[in-house]
Amino acid sequence: MSVFISFEGVDGSGKSTQIKLLLQYLDERGVPYVFTREPGGTPIAEQIRQILLDPANRGMSVITEALLFAASRSEHVSRTIRPALEAGKVVICDRFVDSSLVYQGAAGGLPMEFLLTINEMATGALRPHRTIVLDVAPEVAMARRSGEEADRIERKALEYHQQVREGYLELARAEPRRVKVVDASRSVDETQSEIRRLVEEVLPRRFRGAGATT
Ligand code: TYD
Repeated sequence: MSVFISFEGVDGSGKSTQIKLLLQYLDERGVPYVFTREPGGTPIAEQIRQILLDPANRGMSVITEALLFAASRSEHVSRTIRPALEAGKVVICDRFVDSSLVYQGAAGGLPMEFLLTINEMATGALRPHRTIVLDVAPEVAMARRSGEEADRIERKALEYHQQVREGYLELARAEPRRVKVVDASRSVDETQSEIRRLVEEVLPRRFRGAGATT
């Protein structure tokens, strides 16, 4: 079956909550899946994650950032994602290449060609079948996060996060069949039912709910 689904969104968009609920749903339906996240997902990638998110590394240049994300992704794709897809699993990934395109590109100012090139190398041009963007105003997302300690990237200015949001909307306009924007300012349940519908569309027929028609 080999279906690859990524989740994206500004920090605090409710991604973790929504993914958890989706995984419960996949469990109930007996869908064989692997859940993984970026940056991280393998021992080496997790070590790179520590460097990337450590507030002590405040001075890191955006090019270093982009290369480290791509390095972590290369490990992740070859050791976790591809083997799972080859084993016929559904792979649910919390963030993928689109995070780099918007955080380091749209918001960070790096040229898209550079990001596309290093990420194509890192992933062997692997792309998700479906990408779900949880869309919420950064102000709302920030309020949701209050109480948790912010990592290095979360501490960046509101304007940066607005550019991240805009970057995702732009990607969805450019690739409307793959990238689906879900309004995450609604209740958890409403958002979750839309996510389930969008995930079902790309699952093999036998795993879809009774209401699915395509
Ligand atoms: P994480 O704690 O996983 O955030 P979240 O739970 O919101 O996904 O931290 C990931 C951070 O790294 C997040 O701020 C987005 C950022 N990031 C990039 O800037 N580029 C990337 O390529 C990836 C994968 C993440």
